[in-house]
Amino acid sequence: MLAGKELDAMSEREKEGKYEEVCRITNVAAFTNEHQYLKEGYERYSKHGKPFVLPGLHWPEVVLPPEDVKWLASLPEDVCDATHVQEELLGLRYISHGPDIEWVHDFSNIRRDLKIHMTDALPEVLDEVKIAFSSALGQPHTWTRIKALKAMKTATMGVFNRITVGQLLCRDDKYLSAVQRMVMTFALTGIVYRFLIPNCLKKWVMPAVSKPYRWALTRASAMYMPTVQKRLHEYKVSKSRDGLPNDMLQWTIERAVSKYGSSAVGVQDVADTMVFLNIFAAITIDLVLDTVLIDVLSYSPNSMLVQQLRREADEALPRLNQNPLGALAEMTKIDSVIRETLRIHPPNDHGMMRQIVKPGGVTTPGGLYLPEGTHVGAHVAAVQRDTKTCHDADQYRPLRFSEDRQQVGEPSTTAVHISDKFLPFALGRHACPGRFFAVHVLKLILGHIFTAYDFEPLSERPVVRSIGGINLPDDNTLIGVRLRQRHAGSKN
Ligand code: HEM
Repeated sequence: MLAGKELDAMSEREKEGKYEEVCRITNVAAFTNEHQYLKEGYERYSKHGKPFVLPGLHWPEVVLPPEDVKWLASLPEDVCDATHVQEELLGLRYISHGPDIEWVHDFSNIRRDLKIHMTDALPEVLDEVKIAFSSALGQPHTWTRIKALKAMKTATMGVFNRITVGQLLCRDDKYLSAVQRMVMTFALTGIVYRFLIPNCLKKWVMPAVSKPYRWALTRASAMYMPTVQKRLHEYKVSKSRDGLPNDMLQWTIERAVSKYGSSAVGVQDVADTMVFLNIFAAITIDLVLDTVLIDVLSYSPNSMLVQQLRREADEALPRLNQNPLGALAEMTKIDSVIRETLRIHPPNDHGMMRQIVKPGGVTTPGGLYLPEGTHVGAHVAAVQRDTKTCHDADQYRPLRFSEDRQQVGEPSTTAVHISDKFLPFALGRHACPGRFFAVHVLKLILGHIFTAYDFEPLSERPVVRSIGGINLPDDNTLIGVRLRQRHAGSKN
């Protein structure tokens, strides 16, 4: 880790264009040690308002202190770039034959369409939650210990795919396992790409390394292609929008046709895009769901907390059909447990990775000069555990946001409300546009599983591994599950 004079020296080297040299002094150990590096960096530097450099094979990154996060989020794209950094981090140029990078960066179906139409889709999503989770967790009439996190992975994927590929395919085991294989191979390829292959070899090595992922994407997309083909054709020959479906596939087709022209939009592009969405949508929802569940179950006194969450869901969920947003807004306790997990155990300890692209560089409000080309980021975990802005910051207090709002020092404390003190969805123009949908889905899932099942408390919080900067709960954790009396015999 570098700071102070060493950091200035690094900036000088970058200015001279000797970037690779800096990369070489960093190490592969960042792959598993990032959590530790960040912890150390927080204690020694961030806590005192100072930046430090986080090593990484891809590039070293200047982690700004909490005080500079708002400033970072406010920088325009021509000063501080996110798009190309995302491309580099995902390695799409090397890894994937599709979807095209331009398609991947077209978030209009999420930013606008999903946000507008999400309310209408929520009752359908709840139906899918009931079916998918009942099938994943089973109907155990007595206490049964299962790998619940693993089981919930497929269920979450099914729920998300209900709004992307529709009811038939989202329940098709073959399709779901093809998507799971695609996600898994993408993650493994990403690890090899980011941590094990030096930049100079990527061009030559990546085509071979990414073969299993490309094969898996082709396989999953192929199952979806007949539907896309039919729908694309229907749209192209239709005289008006009347009578056409109102779902994610339709919005994606319409946006693509209006942007690229009818003849340029291929079936494969659309199918790949929809399947690819699983990577940053279904997987993140599942990761947060797992973490919320282990946090709740390892909290003491757990049973009282579960009872409170259950009572809230019991009252709100039956009202979902009449007033979806109203019913979800009533679930303030479940919202609070989601926010508290995202605060104290965020999926990524650091984020908002950006690169300074302004010729001549920029200077932070704290006075640090960042030359053009410098990679910067924010220490999410440190910001959210800052004792200056959050009372009892190191304590997991699941209902803090529904009970003692005056103590949390934020104007709004719902799980989707982002600020420079709450960064799990980042901040600024690249903040997660899917967070509204993600939190709604999480509330529906948690509401359903707590009303339908009893869960045995965990005597201690299971180990969470940090792999490539992502905090992953152990899928093999055994959790005692029992179907609640009034749900026995019913599929939902
Ligand atoms: C709880 C689950 C989720 C978490 C924790 C999460 C987190 C994030 C974060 C931290 C970013 C910002 C990355 C950056 O600053 O560079 C982001 C971006 C993004 N997320 Fe999410 N996300 C979640 C769910 C979703 C879902 C369900 C969708 C889609 C339906 C989605 C779509 C996106 C997109 C399209 C971006 C890129 C935005 C841009 O660069 O302009 N996310 N997400």
